Amino acid sequence: MKKLIPALLAFSAAFPALADDITYAKHIRPLWDDKCERCHGTSAPPYEVFLKDKKTFELDDKGPRMDSYESFVFFLTGPQAGALMRRLDDGSNTKDGQPGNMYRHLGRGEQRKENLQIFKQWIGEGAWIVKGAGELSKDEIQKIKAAK
Ligand code: HEC
Repeated sequence: MKKLIPALLAFSAAFPALADDITYAKHIRPLWDDKCERCHGTSAPPYEVFLKDKKTFELDDKGPRMDSYESFVFFLTGPQAGALMRRLDDGSNTKDGQPGNMYRHLGRGEQRKENLQIFKQWIGEGAWIVKGAGELSKDEIQKIKAAK
């Protein structure tokens, strides 16, 4: 037993945050409240309403509502699978090398990178795949952790 404890400590130091440790409730929601809520909160229209009048909502800085775990993962593993990765990527995984258009909302400078890292850890090892709408395979979607 005595030997096991240092081994465990070394293990947790090497992997400071495994995907299972990052949850929507503990890490993503507070980040979302800070960075995304003003345009995707309760005052934003549900997705199907948003789609009917995109232009008007966009002019008003309103995107589709994502104010619960369920409405958020809709853009991750649901009908809009992968949208979150497409929008938040910093450009290192996109075809044209340009960041997704929500990346800039993740904060300034270092904070932006750190917040992206939290999102990536939440999605899980190997699951941050940037592909077009409808292009993620079932296997790729199944890799997504996104713990509640
Ligand atoms: C200043 C307002 C604003 C902020 C802040 C903002 N968004 Fe957005 N977002 C929009 C608008 C408007 C759209 C719809 C237009 C578009 O598709 O680009 C959108 C679209 C999206 C989409 C695509 C939805 C779809 O149709 O598939 C995702 C995903 C997204 N945002 C995630 C986020 C996340 C995560 C954050 C916080 C890090 C965030 N946004 C912050 C305004 C914002």
